[in-house]
Amino acid sequence: MLSTLPAVSGLALSLALIACATREHAESSQPPAAPSAAASPAIAPITPPSLSAPAPVTLPGLHNVVAYHDNFYSGGVPESPAAFDTLKSLGIKTVISVDGAVPDVQSAESRGIRYIHLPIGYNGFDDQRRLELARATRDALNDGPVYIHCHHGKHRSAAAAAAAVTALGYMSADDAIARMKVSGTAPNYTGLYTCVASTTALDLATLNAVPADFPSVSKPADFVQAMIDLDEMLDHLTQIKNANWKTPSDHPDLVPAAEAGRLADTLRILAESNRAKREKPGFAQALLDDSAKAQRLEDSILSSADAATLSDQLKVVAASCKDCHATYRD
Ligand code: HEC
Repeated sequence: MLSTLPAVSGLALSLALIACATREHAESSQPPAAPSAAASPAIAPITPPSLSAPAPVTLPGLHNVVAYHDNFYSGGVPESPAAFDTLKSLGIKTVISVDGAVPDVQSAESRGIRYIHLPIGYNGFDDQRRLELARATRDALNDGPVYIHCHHGKHRSAAAAAAAVTALGYMSADDAIARMKVSGTAPNYTGLYTCVASTTALDLATLNAVPADFPSVSKPADFVQAMIDLDEMLDHLTQIKNANWKTPSDHPDLVPAAEAGRLADTLRILAESNRAKREKPGFAQALLDDSAKAQRLEDSILSSADAATLSDQLKVVAASCKDCHATYRD
């Protein structure tokens, strides 16, 4: 694998890696001890999609699967223990999650599959995360096939896969961006596209200098901090609404779909938090319901719904925040 990396001159080494976003996630924690289950029964092999496939494929438990290199696939979250059987049938040895949710490490490890958790945001990722994605992908490919996922497998995992193959010199940024379009990465996610477009092939020394002790679970943000983040996203969406659902001229960094996507994601991840588990039964469901409303708003932005519809949907999201506070907090 190392030999496929092109030589890069010292000058190019000054890494044309432009920071495309700041990091959104808390630092990594040590992975928990892995409970190892009994070996699962033999599973028939499944043929993965080819590197030239013009459309994503659906496999049992896995959506939107697209190849980015030999033995390297991007797609949606493994949805059930059975999805891990599909991964095993594909010969996958490593799964990389770029989603914020805690990965199902146990289902993976019981099938001899390792998890690496490197969450990224909807606006992109910083230089360090890009280096980590490249190093993790290269090392993991030395062990066998690799599957990289976010939640839907359309936007974030596609961008992460595209940046990794570009940084590793397996593909040009243009070709990697063409694969993102196969994955269905919406053009609205300008930060994700910029991250890939600004990626150049790394030299070996830079790659080998990246610490490779990747966690299987990154620590999620604390509950109260996540609430404060939600408030900021809601405020951003209000500013976007006031700019008639465009990026506000005095806040050029705001990407409407990305703010709604982050909102949906944060609420969904909070539903799995320890805090939600300690609360009354309806609490986690209230977070999931609010997440579904934010998801509807994101989908409507991506499908260019009219401003009145978007404003109504934002109102519905905000009302859910208030309802939950009235029921569980105030
Ligand atoms: C399922 C219930 C639930 C939903 C839905 C919910 N919250 Fe909260 N929120 C809470 C609880 C509980 C607290 C109190 C946390 C604490 O202090 O321990 C809180 C606290 C907060 C705080 C105060 C944080 C601080 O500084 O102490 C803000 C701001 C906030 N939420 C914003 C939001 C926004 C914005 C949304 C919707 C996008 C939202 N919340 C949705 C339950 C919810």
